[in-house]
Amino acid sequence: MHALYSASSIMISMKIAYVAPYEGEKKIVMETLGNHEVVFVDAPVRTEVPEELRDADALSVFVDSAVTVEMIDSMPNLKCIALRSTGFDHVACEYAQSKGITVSYVPHYGSQTVAEYTFALILALSRKAFAAYDELRTDGGRDVKKYEGFDLKGKTLGVIGTGAIGRHVCTIAKGFGMNVVAYDLYPDGPFARDNDVSYVSFDEVMAQSDIVTLHVPSSKDNYHMINKESLALSKKGIYVINTARGDLVDTVALTQALQDGHVTGAGLDVYEGEQYITDEMELLTRDEDIGKDVWKAFAAEHVLLDMPNVIVTPHVAFNSIEAKREITQTTTANILKAFTKEPQFEVNKK
Ligand code: NAI
Repeated sequence: MHALYSASSIMISMKIAYVAPYEGEKKIVMETLGNHEVVFVDAPVRTEVPEELRDADALSVFVDSAVTVEMIDSMPNLKCIALRSTGFDHVACEYAQSKGITVSYVPHYGSQTVAEYTFALILALSRKAFAAYDELRTDGGRDVKKYEGFDLKGKTLGVIGTGAIGRHVCTIAKGFGMNVVAYDLYPDGPFARDNDVSYVSFDEVMAQSDIVTLHVPSSKDNYHMINKESLALSKKGIYVINTARGDLVDTVALTQALQDGHVTGAGLDVYEGEQYITDEMELLTRDEDIGKDVWKAFAAEHVLLDMPNVIVTPHVAFNSIEAKREITQTTTANILKAFTKEPQFEVNKK
């Protein structure tokens, strides 16, 4: 049995299950949690918690894991789930909270990091940089006319969601000389005024943009916000960038619009079902029925990867040294604060 404090208020060691740390993370974790028993497991967890972690007081996961109701029930001592991410759609938060388990997250990390990556995707598409490099390397291709691009200066960028990341995207876009139109449920008037950003309706963002980029969280309301209807509002030739969450975009609608040429290109760091796609061999040999959605995600990934005007990356927008250190430090602080019942970055209770 693990306790928070002894009667004399001396902190007792807690058991912390730290799942799938990145290279170098263990050292940063131990700087803060060294007085506790921290058990690291290398592989993400998705359907069950490994035996050796089940008596832990805290569980920390990244977006490559899932925490289900059954997994929570398998951990009787659990007091805190510390998510090393901004999004929390991969975890049964409401259920955990209903059992008195705190669920913390990292509200803001690497906002600049994700915004910079958004432009890595935009520039790779606008200048066909990946395609040019790939063909030069594989076939010695030097056919310059194939790689005609377009300037960002003077183009209109539509930013859906002007939170921490979206605001950085706006300011970077202004640096390129772009016009920026934005939509947010809670517009930030002073920011818009100071940065020459125009808030318009969602439909207007779709209608005016040459490139639309998503920076809203996954939620029931935001599910498939980019779909057949919203794409129909857009200019022919629009580019779609998603570094937020896969389920914001209806993959089938986007793929069809890319195929018929209405959408000219897409940069997707996230896509529907990415959490299922681990290893093809593992999917093929898994015993249980993996379900239609997994196969659909698998097929969509292949279709998108085959499209020369699409860049798909495996959820790496956050992945900079600076951002990861920020994630780890916020997470370890969240864990300690959960034990001492101090305010932390808690996922809002419904
Ligand atoms: P944030 O919470 O600071 O901003 C989100 C904004 O979206 C808020 O201003 C909110 O009012 C707005 N919003 C919510 N629903 C909306 C809707 N239907 N229409 C218009 N606006 C809406 O979040 P932050 O830090 O900017 O992150 C945005 C998303 O980026 C995260 O939720 C996460 O899913 C994703 N993300 C992806 C990463 C990656 O590696 N690809 C890394 C970090 C975050």
